[in-house]
Amino acid sequence: LKLYGFAASTRENSLNRHLFNRVVEAIEARGGKVDVLDYSIVENLPLYTITREAESGIPDAVHTIAQNILAAEGLIIASPEYNFSIPGPLKNAIDWISRIKPSVFTGKPVLLAAASPSPVGGWRGLAALRVPLVCLGAQTLPWEITIGGAATPEQLDQTLSSEMVQQRVETALFSLL
Ligand SMILES: Cc1cc2nc3c(=O)[nH]c(=O)nc-3n(C[C@H](O)[C@H](O)[C@H](O)COP(=O)(O)O)c2cc1C
Repeated sequence: LKLYGFAASTRENSLNRHLFNRVVEAIEARGGKVDVLDYSIVENLPLYTITREAESGIPDAVHTIAQNILAAEGLIIASPEYNFSIPGPLKNAIDWISRIKPSVFTGKPVLLAAASPSPVGGWRGLAALRVPLVCLGAQTLPWEITIGGAATPEQLDQTLSSEMVQQRVETALFSLL
């Protein structure tokens, strides 16, 4: 199984990258293969505007990301929640990718994950992220992995090790695989 994914944060000690890496480990232990996008490419994209696209076209990096999405059998996205919603650079990348027709997201299963120091674990950000992905034809899986109350990667690991959370993670991985 050939998957593609990323954590939407390049921050040192990023909770979401840590969670993403744990999900990748679990999937690779089950025989899947995950190609990982260098998210600094997303953070460095120009801001999408219709005028910018008309003047300069779609950046090469966007075409490369889109080709990788198209080639993958499924996607994994771990994203922080910013103000109950999608971090700006990620929404910007989705807007750029949406300009490539037909949509490379069509029919693509997407496993969503989020980690946050807040007790609710970023699910509202994932609910917001589902909206443009569904608009573009992705099949966002109903099972998602959200970890709340984790201020550090170590705390996140502690929560992940609980039996209840492991069962939820298993269900989410199973739904993707
Ligand atoms: C602009 C901004 C808005 C945020 N809004 C939320 C929020 O709505 N809900 C939440 O749980 N955490 C929120 N946070 C806290 C992030 O969840 C926290 O910084 C998290 O560690 C970021 O993800 P990362 O560790 O993967 O970089 C926000 C952080 C920033 C910088």
